[in-house]
Amino acid sequence: MIVGRDIKRVYGMGAVQVRALDGVSIEIQKGEFVGVMGSSGSGKSTLLHMLGLLDRPTSGFISIDGVDVGALDERSRTLFRLKRLGYVFQDYALVPELTAQENVYLPSMVRGMTPHECNLVCTEILGVVGLGDRIHHLPGELSGGEQQRVAIARALVNKPTILLADEPCANLDSQNSRIILDLFKKLNKNLHQTIVMVSHEEWHKSYFDRIIYMKDGVIDQQ
Ligand SMILES: Nc1ncnc2c1ncn2[C@@H]1O[C@H](COP(=O)(O)OP(=O)(O)OP(=O)(O)O)[C@@H](O)[C@H]1O
Ligand SMILES: [Mg+2]
Repeated sequence: MIVGRDIKRVYGMGAVQVRALDGVSIEIQKGEFVGVMGSSGSGKSTLLHMLGLLDRPTSGFISIDGVDVGALDERSRTLFRLKRLGYVFQDYALVPELTAQENVYLPSMVRGMTPHECNLVCTEILGVVGLGDRIHHLPGELSGGEQQRVAIARALVNKPTILLADEPCANLDSQNSRIILDLFKKLNKNLHQTIVMVSHEEWHKSYFDRIIYMKDGVIDQQ
């Protein structure tokens, strides 16, 4: 479960300040598939960065599975992020010189699995995202949709508490977007994976259990 209380993030402490988040309070239960929507600049990515421990709020409180993540030092935060959080980016962020399998390895190698264990786990998770026959392909040898599925496999490999995805379908056509959304829905339903996904597309709404609408750095109560 995620609890956020009065989260604020102010960028640029000089003359021009941007209040990217201006007091956001949220609760997300385990097993929810939550959409985050709202106009450009409303703070969606900033909120995801805070929940994904990629950045710290200027003020406010965040706890994930009962851990006050703001109180952790940098090293503990990094470990927490690696073990408990999965992050999917709009542009996939794969390493071009590494195969699909090696890209998925990265976060689990960091956690100290043996190469043999890594192999098994990575092959299994690539099978889950439907790429069991592409494990030795380089990103450049995969379609955009397949690359994003490698990135999703990488995010899932450590069985994260939450999967955070920031416009994961933004660079994909509707057919590939649907494959990603169907995959998220399956993970959510079968594995009770908690998913928080930012989207701009009206048609994605039907996949979400609930939608958080952002406006000018706050949750728009509509
Ligand atoms: N590193 C930064 N430094 C200064 N301002 C920033 C920074 N990152 C974001 N902002 C500002 O914070 C506000 C919220 O940005 P954010 O990226 O969270 O919006 P968003 O809702 O994700 O938008 P989009 O839909 O375009 O991705 C914007 O006004 C943006 O210009
Ligand atoms: Mg954004």
